[in-house]
Amino acid sequence: MHRTSRPRTDGARRRRNRCAVHRRDTGAGGHTERLLSDLPGLHALGLDRDPSALQIAGARLAPFGNRVTLIRTRYDGIADALEEAGHPAENSVDGVLFDLGVSSMQLDRTERGFSYSADAPLDMRMDPDLPLTAADILNTYDHGPLAAILREYGEEKFASKIAKEVIRRRERTPFATTGDLVELLYAAIPAPARRTGGHPAKRTFQALRVAVNAELDSLRAALPAALAALRPGGRVVVMAYQSLEDRIVKSVFAAATASRTPPGLPVELPGHEPEFVSLTRGAERADQREIDRNPRSAAVRLRAVQRPTDRGGS
Ligand SMILES: C[S@@+](CC[C@H](N)C(=O)[O-])C[C@H]1O[C@@H](n2cnc3c(N)ncnc32)[C@H](O)[C@@H]1O
Repeated sequence: MHRTSRPRTDGARRRRNRCAVHRRDTGAGGHTERLLSDLPGLHALGLDRDPSALQIAGARLAPFGNRVTLIRTRYDGIADALEEAGHPAENSVDGVLFDLGVSSMQLDRTERGFSYSADAPLDMRMDPDLPLTAADILNTYDHGPLAAILREYGEEKFASKIAKEVIRRRERTPFATTGDLVELLYAAIPAPARRTGGHPAKRTFQALRVAVNAELDSLRAALPAALAALRPGGRVVVMAYQSLEDRIVKSVFAAATASRTPPGLPVELPGHEPEFVSLTRGAERADQREIDRNPRSAAVRLRAVQRPTDRGGS
């Protein structure tokens, strides 16, 4: 989340999309460093629920001194975070950038349990103070809620079968590691299905991570708060890495950019114009050069909206 005390310059306007999909060292404050370097008038509030991410970002951004404030919170704590930093929750920021999901740091620290490619405790909490781990879900949820998580958050076709196998296995030995789960998934997903659609553990790991961290609830609540925080001319940019999140962003932005004039009237009623204008057509994707440099950017879908500077234009 970024706030500048100076009016935006043409140069700043031209640069608006340049930082869009650079994910090198994500989880290390890379976006914020780039923005603070490029925009000398910027003051940045960096929000993350993961204290390790904040610690790493804090070290990296130390040279910027009091131009950066880091706050540990879920994204939907944006209004309180603004107030804590001395800004009104509404009409006070020039830009909010959401870089959603899990960071490279979190994936690469195998002991966090986010990755199916290394054996580690089945944790997946972004915030280590959360009460529930992925292992807790696997070891305690009934078939119905477990299958629903896999189906809704992982779009897993074999959700019911996997949930049945999970329950059968945990009666013998409770789940403790990512390796336990990967082994079960190889056995539960039929061989022909394993050959398509990426790694067989991908969807189940995504589903558990979304459930453990209540990621979609957080996003649903955070987007309206971010829109409300914008000053005229301010922008919200969202980088989503999976379709469930992108669908939420698409729908919130569609509502925000829709006319509020009652349907059927031939002209826009004054004061009923859309509150925001879209800056992207559909979702923007990383180009091949970006993907070659940073393969994790292949999944990104970027959408952005702006609060008009004056009625009728942006
Ligand atoms: C893709 S990384 C962001 C990296 C950042 N743009 C950078 O340049 O370092 C996603 C970060 O968002 C955090 N995160 C994900 N969902 C969150 C939420 N709902 N509330 C707060 N932080 C969240 C994760 O802990 C992770 O550190």
